[in-house]
Order: sequence, then C-alpha cells, then structure tokens
Amino acid sequence: MKKWFLIFFVFSALFATAQKLTAIRPIKGMVRLLEKDLADAATQYAVLAKARPADKFPKTFFPSTGAYEFSNSGWWCSGFYPATLLALYQETSAGELGTEALRMLELLKKEQYNSGTHDLGFMMYCPFSAAKKVFPAEKSYDSILMNSARSLATRFDPKVGCIKSWNSKEGDFLVIIDNMMNLELLFWATKYSGDSSFYKMAVTHANTTLLNHFRPDHSSYHVVNYNRETGAVQKKQTAQGAADSSAWARGQAWGLYGYTMAYRETKDPRYLQQAKDIAAFILHHPRLPADNIPYWDFDAPGIPGALRDASAAAIISSALLELLEYTDSATAQQYFKHAEKTLQVLSTPAYKAAPGKNGGFILMHGVGHNPNNTEVDVPLTYADYYFVEAIERYLSVTSK
Ligand code: GLY
Repeated sequence: MKKWFLIFFVFSALFATAQKLTAIRPIKGMVRLLEKDLADAATQYAVLAKARPADKFPKTFFPSTGAYEFSNSGWWCSGFYPATLLALYQETSAGELGTEALRMLELLKKEQYNSGTHDLGFMMYCPFSAAKKVFPAEKSYDSILMNSARSLATRFDPKVGCIKSWNSKEGDFLVIIDNMMNLELLFWATKYSGDSSFYKMAVTHANTTLLNHFRPDHSSYHVVNYNRETGAVQKKQTAQGAADSSAWARGQAWGLYGYTMAYRETKDPRYLQQAKDIAAFILHHPRLPADNIPYWDFDAPGIPGALRDASAAAIISSALLELLEYTDSATAQQYFKHAEKTLQVLSTPAYKAAPGKNGGFILMHGVGHNPNNTEVDVPLTYADYYFVEAIERYLSVTSK
C-alpha cells in the first residue's frame, strides 16, 4: 500500500512539474527580444557611466532639458546603479561595466554604518549580494552586509513590532509598505551569521505589516503611523500616493515583491496567500491598462490621462516571475503571461530608450514622487534595476 502511495505521489509531482513547464513557454521571438534588451542596456549604462561626476550616483535625467540629477551615497536609490551594472556585466562580460561597478561599491560601502535610514536593503543588499555572486573571491562583502543588517536592526522597535521607516516627530513611528523590501537583508544576515534575531525582526515586521497595512481588497496604505509608546495604529495615510485611501501603484508592487520574498525566506503560507491576493488586486484591477503599465496610482485623478509608472510595471513583472514558482500551473501561467506582456511593452520604443538617448538610462516614464512634483515622468534607477532583474528571471524560468 505504502509503495503504491509513493509511486502515485512521485507521478503526481512529475505531472504537476510537467504541466507547469508547458504553462511557461516563451512566445516566439521573446528570448531574442530580451537578449537584445540586455545588450542595449549595457550600451546605455556605458553612456551613463561617462556622464557621472566622479563621486556621485545617477538619480535621474530630464530629456526635455538634457539635465541630469545625481545623488550622494546616502540617497535611498544609491545601490540600484551598481547592482544593475553588476547584472549587466554578468550578462554581457563588458569589462568597463564591471570596473564602474567596483568604483561605485567603493563609494557606497560607508553606508553600512548608516542607521539613519531603513533603505539599507535597497542600498546595500541589492548591490553587495550581486557583487558576492559576480566576485565570489572578494570576502569583504559579507562583513559590509552584516554591518548593514546591524545598522538596519537598530531601527526595530519591539513595542511596535516594526522597523522604523522615516524619522519624524516624537510620538510618531512611521512605517511604509516599501519597508518590506528591506527585510531581505535581515533574512540574509541570519543565514550568514546563524544569529536568529535578524530573522525574528523580519518576521515580526512582516506580520505587523500584514495586520495593519492592508485593506479588505488587499491593496495597501502607503504609510502607517504607530504610537511609539503603545504600538497602537494612530493613522493610515499616504505620502507618495494620490490620497490616503488610494492604491499607489509602486506601493502595491513593493507589497507584492516583499511578501513573495518573505515567503521564499520563511515558507509561511500566510505570506504566499498575501502575495497572491495582492497579485489578484493588481491583475484584475478595472483601471489596470490593457498594456499592463499601471497608472502611477490606481486611483489617480485624470485616468485615463494620468501618467503611467514604468517602475511599478517592472517591479510587478519581476515579483510575478518569482511568485509563479510557488503556485499551481494555471496561476503560474496567468502570472507568466502578465509578466511577459509587460516586458514586451517595456521593450517597445514607448518605454525603452533608443541607444544613446535618455541620458543612458534604460527605461523612460517612471514616476518617483508625484505629490511632491519630484522625479515625475522620468527615468529612474530602480525602474532599470527591476526591468533587468525581470528579464533575467524570465530567461531563467523559460530555460528550465
Ligand atoms: N521607497 C520610495 C519609493 O518607492 O519611491
């Protein structure tokens, strides 16, 4: 009896795997298109590298005036440029991109001691985990990442059960949905060091966010303001969205990616369910345009004339291309088709810059902070980073 059960189990598992593999076959020409995207991206980043002042990080570019904006290493996006360079160096072996990446890591590494920001996952984990893969002989990256995790951990408050996102006036404790992304650094720190305290903080933050950041339709608030003394929720609001009650597109993308990653790291089925629920909110939203590039906010005023956000589209694609690994074949196919179409659209001249244009950035039409009127309808380093990551994930899942 046991033997028959085992045989049945093995056959069912093989059948499910085979079903899934047939569900995620690329459409004709897609692999070639994305390989060309990577080659073009490498050409673009060589342009960006030449434009960059020696001690600065690219932030954005304004095509109408030809002006760049650069930042120092403390800006939340400083890690995306070196991380993208490393990915493109690995894909294309273009030596100048590897050299430029190493220069940037050198400028960035002092941020390992920066405890004034929650963005150390973006700033440090993205580039230095990539650097570990590309330059495995270089051992200093592990201690840089451990110090970064220690700095991030100083912002955890056990009373609230969260890492503090933004510093603010006394009595407030502000947590933004984006903060889910920084947990990957803490998960890594426990795996590397064996110190479970980082893992526990990450899980506590994810659980508190699960409880307080989401609405019944599985969309998320951007900011939750907790009482520092009691841990009670004081206010649910927005900073970068159209309204407190609206669904800011990149916030939904961060939530989707964050809970997919948290499931990978914990195997907690509640995180998987949350990721699938967020995916359903996005994919079935009546105001998601047919080409899959979201408006900057699902509730933006002026739809259908509102601006699109290529960064949210890229993050959603990358997240779905991981999430499909954890679902049944019908759901996997749905996620795959959504990501495939999005990458197709991002690869058209409507979003992907012509070689040499767009200041060397890969994608156009990202929306950074619309209510602040900063970085609106411009290239963004994180749109490029998640676009390249999504392409890599697409090429990986379709080659299995
Ligand atoms: N973390 C800030 C943003 O997504 O714009």
